[in-house]
Amino acid sequence: MSGAGLEGIVAGQTAISTVGIEGTGLHYRGYSVEDLAAKAQFEEVAYMLLYGTLPTSSQLETYKDKLISRRKLPQALRDVLERIPGNAHPMDVLRTTCSMMGTLEPETSFAQQYNVTDRLLSFFPASLCYWYHFQKNGKRIDTQSKETSLAGYFLNLLHQKEVDESQRELMDASLTLYAEHELNASTFAARVAAATLTDFYSTITAAIGTLRGPLHGGANEAAMALIERFSNADEAEIELKAMLSRKEKIMGFGHRVYKIRDPRSDVIKSWSKKLSQQKNKDVLFSVSERVEQVMMSEKKMFPNLDFYSASAYHFCDIPTDMFTPIFVFARLTGWAAHVYEQRANNRLIRPTADYIGPAPRDFINLQDRTTSFFK
Ligand code: COA
Repeated sequence: MSGAGLEGIVAGQTAISTVGIEGTGLHYRGYSVEDLAAKAQFEEVAYMLLYGTLPTSSQLETYKDKLISRRKLPQALRDVLERIPGNAHPMDVLRTTCSMMGTLEPETSFAQQYNVTDRLLSFFPASLCYWYHFQKNGKRIDTQSKETSLAGYFLNLLHQKEVDESQRELMDASLTLYAEHELNASTFAARVAAATLTDFYSTITAAIGTLRGPLHGGANEAAMALIERFSNADEAEIELKAMLSRKEKIMGFGHRVYKIRDPRSDVIKSWSKKLSQQKNKDVLFSVSERVEQVMMSEKKMFPNLDFYSASAYHFCDIPTDMFTPIFVFARLTGWAAHVYEQRANNRLIRPTADYIGPAPRDFINLQDRTTSFFK
């Protein structure tokens, strides 16, 4: 069917990022993602995506102070978090957090959009970790902290201790890699919502719900479930070939836009390798590499960012169902930048469809209907 999945359709203009020009490459406002992941802190990238330019050192300091000052969770939100079941998916916790905050601190004018973004950026990790520790350990954690990076703040809250510098650095780089990706499904959902002139929280709630699926953000969790099934690389190869012969999809591979490679994958792979060596967890890494080799030789497919993110996060002792929420912490910046851009030059997004149903026909009165539609 032509237009299926809107593949290849240009659905608007953006000055925020370019994805996969010439089959690979990712640039945020002209800067390559490899440079940003190696040389910038996530907060610099967030600032640049949201405000358009890289911050000076004093702007960065002010911005970080602002984020630190907004981490306190309102009591009403804590009450809600304590009522969310412990077996809920953490993505549902974030979606609910976003929705609830829209009732507690509503956006009453678009001029507030920057402040609302900062607030969400500050308290998503707090909200998730508060719920996690309350439900798993019955503990009401203190979410206030002077830690200046979002990466360190999240990991310290999750583990309730200062984490290794290498874990903090990996998390910081991965937040940059996940921050923005043009008109991916969740960003498109956010822009469709924004185009109706709804409030900021509604655009982000729509985006979180869209990111949750395994064909999008949920792929990092599905990739983890795959690689941890195998006890060695040979076993992985045999089973993978069997899965491919059954036409099963291998999560963490393939991409709608990149045709040669996902430039983010090499960066996260080198982090995964480094942490696997530090943790003496070579098996999981060698299983991952074998999966990569088999996918290349059998399907000519390369890993996307989600594949090696899975093992890298696992080596930081992060529960698997928190992998996609980390994506939310980062992508919030990209979503927000797109919402601002949509609002600045808005037109309702409303495509049409080719109708393939019955031709116009006469209505049948209830007493005259002989067969059930559902038969
Ligand atoms: N494993 C095995 N085969 C795959 C595959 C994968 N991960 N991804 C795509 N394919 C195959 C499909 O089976 C299909 O084969 P066919 O033509 O013989 O039927 C072909 O490649 C095209 O796949 P399709 O799903 O139509 O491509 P798409 O552009 O609509 O989808 C993705 C892109 C990313 C959704 C898809 O590659 C996928 O589902 N990947 C796994 C999930 C994932 O990692 N998502 C994160 C993306 S960053």
